[in-house]
Amino acid sequence: MPDLLSIHDLKKSDVERYLSEAKKMEAALAKGKPLRTLEGKIIANLFFEPSTRTNFSFQSAAARLGATPIAFYPEKSSAQKGESFSDTIRILDGYADALVIRHPSEGSAEEAARIATHPVINAGDGGNQHPTQTLIDLYTIKKLFGKISGLNVTLMGDLKHARAMRSLLYGLAMFGCGAELVSPVSLRMDPLAIARAKRDFGVKITETAKPNLSKCNVLYLCRVQKERFSNAKEAQAVQASFRLDKTLLLSANKKMAVLHPLPKLDEIPASVESDSRMKYFEQAKNGVPVRMAVLKLCLGL
Ligand code: NCD
Repeated sequence: MPDLLSIHDLKKSDVERYLSEAKKMEAALAKGKPLRTLEGKIIANLFFEPSTRTNFSFQSAAARLGATPIAFYPEKSSAQKGESFSDTIRILDGYADALVIRHPSEGSAEEAARIATHPVINAGDGGNQHPTQTLIDLYTIKKLFGKISGLNVTLMGDLKHARAMRSLLYGLAMFGCGAELVSPVSLRMDPLAIARAKRDFGVKITETAKPNLSKCNVLYLCRVQKERFSNAKEAQAVQASFRLDKTLLLSANKKMAVLHPLPKLDEIPASVESDSRMKYFEQAKNGVPVRMAVLKLCLGL
């Protein structure tokens, strides 16, 4: 498992391997025993887009395994002087043993992997893919429910632009899990992404503008990805069209889990935050053991 670029590159057995390794990592973390698996290794984080969870959980994961994380920030680097993406990758590849890359352009992680001699991990490329987020999501679902297949999953939000949603739909399908997709018509998921999940795994995927959460096990929300809109006003206009308000929560399954890749905005109002079904902070915490597993397996250890 050298590079991790897209959920499409993984087989179900690969995903299962990441999940079981993550479980071991979580157990080791709970014991508080320092791990030296990646001692002497350097992990470069190249974030060309803002990030809190992905960036810092990768840094934390590297440090927890005894590696040294180094951070590249475009606004403080020679990218400001006009240095190309490919030259930047070539340079960081010479300084580190693995590269973690987030970039606004789709396909940027693949491009980096063609240039780099070390493993490249896609930490989000535009609206395309976010495979490590999907591993965290699947890990969290399995931890909460003991299984993935057979669950009723609803994905709600900006399904057009959210890479986390696109990756997750395919990851769920891999486990035989279909989904109900809820979004305004203008924010529907790319039909090709839906068709691919259906074709490869024969799952049922339905689309609707109004959610019915009475039998829902997992409600996965995301924010409007306003940075991917050409017109900021349009983003504002749809912002209010899906919200998990008190009325919707009241009609929902009492045992449902609400997940979100975060950051959360208006789609989860403050009035519902204390509901015990909100599991997104647990989900975010799972980022460390899952990314420890990713670093370990991508480095072949
Ligand atoms: C997501 C992302 O960057 O795609 N965040 C994350 O990695 N946890 C979701 C988002 O930005 O809305």
